[in-house]
Amino acid sequence: MKILSLVGARPQIIKEAMLNKEFQEAGITEILVHSGQHYDYNMSDVFFSVLNIRQPDYNLNVGSGTHAEMTGKIMIEFEKVVIKEKPDMILVYGDTNTTLAGALVGSKLKIPVAHVEAGIRQKPKDMPEEINRVLTDHVSSLLFCPSELAVKNLKKEGIEEGVHFVGDVMYDLFLKMKPQFKYEKLEELRLKEDEYIVCTIHRDFNTDVREKLETILQQLAKIGKEKKIVFPIHPRTKKKIKEYGLEGYTKDLIITEPLDYLNMMGVIEKSGMVITDSGGLQKEAYWCGRRALVVMEDTGWRELIENGWNKLAKQEEIYEKAEEILREGNKKYPRNVYGNGDSSKKILDIFKNIA
Ligand code: UD1
Repeated sequence: MKILSLVGARPQIIKEAMLNKEFQEAGITEILVHSGQHYDYNMSDVFFSVLNIRQPDYNLNVGSGTHAEMTGKIMIEFEKVVIKEKPDMILVYGDTNTTLAGALVGSKLKIPVAHVEAGIRQKPKDMPEEINRVLTDHVSSLLFCPSELAVKNLKKEGIEEGVHFVGDVMYDLFLKMKPQFKYEKLEELRLKEDEYIVCTIHRDFNTDVREKLETILQQLAKIGKEKKIVFPIHPRTKKKIKEYGLEGYTKDLIITEPLDYLNMMGVIEKSGMVITDSGGLQKEAYWCGRRALVVMEDTGWRELIENGWNKLAKQEEIYEKAEEILREGNKKYPRNVYGNGDSSKKILDIFKNIA
């Protein structure tokens, strides 16, 4: 069986890391394609080296652009690779423009598409990631769900065939890499366990409207006067802070370049709490035993809100709700709802059965 995997953005490289190893061990041929959506060293290459993933067989080098430019360019270039390689299956991950482009190309060429992290749904309906998720799921033949809620979400939309609850591949990777988490950044920044907050912000609804980003930074600056905040900054956010002239709010924050996986996990593991709008970090904080304030109207990882571990916050509520989390401290740790850490093995077994 020949599988063609398409990655392009930071979280996809992380999701692919475990499967990559499983495929190699099982002797399944996996051709790895990088769309080039993320191209900075800190957003892409470092994950390949730290997670020990072999270099992609193809890099489409699409770079940045509007949604249509990016999706269109990936489709045009990826189609050429698919026609040349003639895979039995195309594997796409998560919810980025790369995911949607890959799913469209595969389905139109009548090559079955398998979607890792299928069934996640989140309001508002018009956010780019949600559009990518819904459309990808509707053209996929195999849908690997990270949670039982994801299976239910698909059922509501009439998708039942090819749906498998396998758990979250990010949890597999988390468990596997835990012994190697790094604490160099902690030492470098002189951070003491539990005495600082980790923050990441990059979603378009938080960064692309000046007032929203300003409110977020005002709130963080207020917290920053009382507690250290480490802010590994996404290039989109960095660009917008500069464009809107909001640098003044960042003087009480510890801004760093994006961190590699092992250092990021090390920083989270020892933190007091996390403030984020990243889907991945909401779960990684929980697996580290840390609570997260999620700066979103809704989240695809609703289980962690319903069981009270994480909290949602509007931009203007960050200070108040972060204080609440810090006051409440670590509650009773809820049952893991994202599988047993064997998702990649389950996915592999499903592939073996159809091969
Ligand atoms: C993308 C995904 C998002 C995911 C995130 C993880 C979509 C629609 N969004 O968002 O779901 O959570 O990746 O990081 O696919 N840039 C650089 N260097 C890079 C990458 C980006 O400078 O290596 C800058 C570019 O100016 C670009 C901007 O960041 O315009 C945004 O990048 P883009 O890939 O469009 O979306 P992300 O915000 O990274």
